[in-house]
Amino acid sequence: MKPYQHLLDTEFLSKEEMQGLLNRARFFEEHHEENAKTFQNRFVANLFFEPSTRTRFSFEVAEKRLGLNILNFSEEVSSTTKGETMYDTVKLLSSIGVEAVVMRHRNEKCIAELAKQDTGCTLINAGAGSWAHPTQALLDLYTIWQQFGEVSGLRVAIIGDLKHSRVVRSNIWALQKFGAEVVVSGPPMMRDAEIEKHVRYVEFEEAIRSSDVVMLLRVQLERHEQSLFEGAEAYLQSYGMTQSHFDQMQPHAILMHPAPMNRGVEIADEVVEHPRSKIFTQMHNGVWIRMAVLERAYLERGGH
Ligand code: CP
Repeated sequence: MKPYQHLLDTEFLSKEEMQGLLNRARFFEEHHEENAKTFQNRFVANLFFEPSTRTRFSFEVAEKRLGLNILNFSEEVSSTTKGETMYDTVKLLSSIGVEAVVMRHRNEKCIAELAKQDTGCTLINAGAGSWAHPTQALLDLYTIWQQFGEVSGLRVAIIGDLKHSRVVRSNIWALQKFGAEVVVSGPPMMRDAEIEKHVRYVEFEEAIRSSDVVMLLRVQLERHEQSLFEGAEAYLQSYGMTQSHFDQMQPHAILMHPAPMNRGVEIADEVVEHPRSKIFTQMHNGVWIRMAVLERAYLERGGH
């Protein structure tokens, strides 16, 4: 039997596969009012072992738009609290008719380990520790493509808490495959040597002045084992997007952030909804990309 095409990271997708997803996302954006409900009578489960608002709800909207029947999982009242393994949990879901599992987990290895086993379900990574967040990168790619009409030749600066971000890696793989130049910037304590094997680190001023896309990352205080920053105001003035920093961006450049945002830390209130800020557009686009990802999973499994 053909192995299921799990979606683990953009690292494992070709440019052509990603372009196919972007094309389908555009189709869904343009035709969503037609309410296709393509996958009625088929089941999906959302397993979130870590907090989420955007990813969880935009997957749920995408699932409803595709007509899928949705099982939402709560860790606290599940049998994982009795020690049931992840394999047994997902195998159980497969046994009762679930075909795809959308999973977010704090352990960055969890979904990749599960993908090595035959659970019977297609796995879709909705955020794995500090490792990968492929649907975020795909919706970011879609937003950039939508804005500029192409991605090749653009310079994208990713700025902030590089060390703890799962968004940065997935974005680097996707953007580089599309021919963008990716640079990174941020405080010395939040730099990541592994990331800098793949992209160039530049000073903050250069990053904001020279880029077509300025993508901020959230300071992930919940993942810091020691204090890596000296306070909100100090961070904002040195590495955050203030109005004054925004004014140094090129006139055509756009601002992005995967959110949730730490307002007053990596971004000032006054730039969040600037016309060249695409932050809420990114969230809007998440639905179309997640519809494309789910469609790929269900079509690949064959019709019922
Ligand atoms: N960007 C993102 O993953 O947001 P959530 O944590 O709210 O899902």
